[in-house]
Amino acid sequence: MRLTQEEQDMLDGKHGETVRKCMKVLVTLGKINGATHMIEIANVHSPGVSYRVTGDAGLNYIKDASEDAKFRIPATLNTIGIDYEDWETVGFPKDFSEKQLEICDCYHKMGAYATNTCTPYLVGNVPGFGEHVAWGESSAIVFSNSVLGARTNREGGPTALAAAVTGRVPAYGLHLDENRKGDFLIQVEREPRTDKDFAVLGYFAGKLVGTKTPVFTGFTKRPTLDNFKAMGAALASSGGAALFHVVGFTPEAPHLGAVIDEKTEPVVFGQQEYDQVCAKFHLSGEVDFVVLGCPHTSIHEMREAAELLEGKKVKTGLWICTSRQIKNLSDTMGYSKTIIDAGGEIVCDTCPVLCPTLTERGYKTVATNSGKMAHYAPGLWNLQPALLDTDECIRAAIEGKV
Ligand code: F3S
Repeated sequence: MRLTQEEQDMLDGKHGETVRKCMKVLVTLGKINGATHMIEIANVHSPGVSYRVTGDAGLNYIKDASEDAKFRIPATLNTIGIDYEDWETVGFPKDFSEKQLEICDCYHKMGAYATNTCTPYLVGNVPGFGEHVAWGESSAIVFSNSVLGARTNREGGPTALAAAVTGRVPAYGLHLDENRKGDFLIQVEREPRTDKDFAVLGYFAGKLVGTKTPVFTGFTKRPTLDNFKAMGAALASSGGAALFHVVGFTPEAPHLGAVIDEKTEPVVFGQQEYDQVCAKFHLSGEVDFVVLGCPHTSIHEMREAAELLEGKKVKTGLWICTSRQIKNLSDTMGYSKTIIDAGGEIVCDTCPVLCPTLTERGYKTVATNSGKMAHYAPGLWNLQPALLDTDECIRAAIEGKV
């Protein structure tokens, strides 16, 4: 690989041992993937910060790194395993929480921002079109590539750390023009309207394309940021796509020919395909847990939840997961009070997938508006999922059934 003098100095250990190790990781990764050089990146979104995911190995790794290195570029932190401020109130175990806090301290010491969210693009980390970044967290990666038109590969904890410490990534994969075209064409005949609809479409597409790139055509109306958030998260969990294009509505797809051969045979997504996905996440009867905010809620979603809960009481557990920054805004707007008065919990910094406690609560079923949560709930927590629209989720929480 061709390295600049500064990159070679990093590799030679002139910037310290952690920088040397990090550059070595990146050079090795680059060689494996045929990269000819490094790219300077604008920022990092760091995954692998949840103690539930990293365990003691991750904790020790970051402890060592934080002894002699700092981040060269801005870095936000992904969702962690506890509510950073209210872990005792929410009931997270002390031992787990203390180790989680230790991981956070190390990242903060190195210069990372304590965003603790899978939606960094809602709290200030918004890369521009064509900008190279190093992001982890599947739902954030796909949003960054597809909706913002920034460029990132799927980074894991160690590679994101290496990128933050060196300010570089090897030039391969989705950083290169030739790898950003679509592989599958999906003709959308049942146009999604609600977030559940977008999650269903994303889930369908993810199963179809795996880690390849789908191109959606047939949309007549611009999806909202929350629609894209819901679709991308589902797409990246039923499959592993890191990029999608919606013809006419995402920045690299002004027209079909810009992202895929126009003669590509399309796969149709119609009512039948929609119903098949819904049938997989169908539940009838009692519900004991309802989750909104996977990915973490926007302020619009907080308002919607508050309006639906105004003057009501929930019978089930209700978690609304969000970032601390959105929670603060929600507090100011009075949405948080309405939600809490109705018996809901606003859980910041974490989510049911990354926190340690759900089995102790004895839940059997979960209603959610998230395709990602519906996908993971059975395997992770043995929860039977119902994928519903937001208003149906809140109704399920109030009535205790669907
Ligand atoms: Fe975010 Fe947790 Fe869902 S990290 S995307 S809320 S699984």
